[in-house]
Amino acid sequence: MYLNYFGLNDNPFSIAPNPDYLYMSPRHKEALAHLTFGLRESGGFVMLTGEVGTGKTTVSRKLLQQLPDNTQVAMILNPTLSAIELLATVCDELGISYDPDKASLKYFTDQILSRLARNHQSGMNTVLLIDEAQHLMPEVLEQLRLLTNLETNREKLLKVVLIGQPELQQLLKRNELRQLAQRITARYHLLPLTAPEVSAYMAHRLDVAQGDISIFSPAAVRTVHRITAGIPRVINLLCDRALTLSFTKQHAVVKKSVLLAAGEQILGEDVIAQRLRGQQTVWMTVVLIVSLVLGFLAGRWYV
Ligand SMILES: Nc1ncnc2c1ncn2[C@@H]1O[C@H](COP(=O)(O)OP(=O)(O)OP(=O)(O)O)[C@@H](O)[C@H]1O
Ligand SMILES: [Mg+2]
Repeated sequence: MYLNYFGLNDNPFSIAPNPDYLYMSPRHKEALAHLTFGLRESGGFVMLTGEVGTGKTTVSRKLLQQLPDNTQVAMILNPTLSAIELLATVCDELGISYDPDKASLKYFTDQILSRLARNHQSGMNTVLLIDEAQHLMPEVLEQLRLLTNLETNREKLLKVVLIGQPELQQLLKRNELRQLAQRITARYHLLPLTAPEVSAYMAHRLDVAQGDISIFSPAAVRTVHRITAGIPRVINLLCDRALTLSFTKQHAVVKKSVLLAAGEQILGEDVIAQRLRGQQTVWMTVVLIVSLVLGFLAGRWYV
């Protein structure tokens, strides 16, 4: 509703995964490079982890776009499945027809392995991408490992990309999954955006929507980083709400005070107070240390 008011032709902070708005920060680029490199390696698994909303799914979509044409991809977006359901889903994704009456782990595994062999013979690579992989059950992960057993002298015939929240790292530390953990050839943990990256991220999204970062005051931009801790999804929610509030108040520029009000609406007053207090404590500690050092140096000089 605020688009005309701010001269925008689209909602710059929608949380829809629109590739036009993709901003490849140095971290996002590095994550993509790790995954791409890992898939070229001979091993079976690559892994991308990161806190909620940091952009893992966004990076995985970019990865899929970049895969060579001779790649068949199976994608699992909701992995709260039993081992047999997972194998059936892989069959569906790879276009393998099967007889539901024969459904068993062995039957599905055989079907998938013969497809992997056939793909390999015809020069196709096969990639299985699993998002939200922190929800996979250990026995399902073990089943996946067995699928990657098929290999030539040079490489595995199935490459698996695991994407998930930090709990995925914990899951793979379990003793019964150590064989799988050893087969991960590339792993990357996506961290939130730094303050300059938050500013560049906002500028990029506003630019795509025919807007400009000057819609937000410099103090407001700095506050976005403090409140959101650099998490892209939270940045989008916050900026969208701040634009709505500014429009309601008929402020042509989003001020810090409006941004704080938007933050309280989205994250709650206590969270905002805590995040601002956290920053103040850091500054007070810095001031205290600098004062002590200066006091010490001055004392030595006078002695
Ligand atoms: N690099 C980016 N460029 C543009 N927008 C981004 C980027 N990263 C994240 N976003 C925005 O943040 C939203 C959340 O990103 P995404 O869904 O990729 O996070 P996630 O890490 O997969 O989250 P979850 O842990 O909930 O699965 C996206 O819909 C998108 O709007
Ligand atoms: Mg995701």
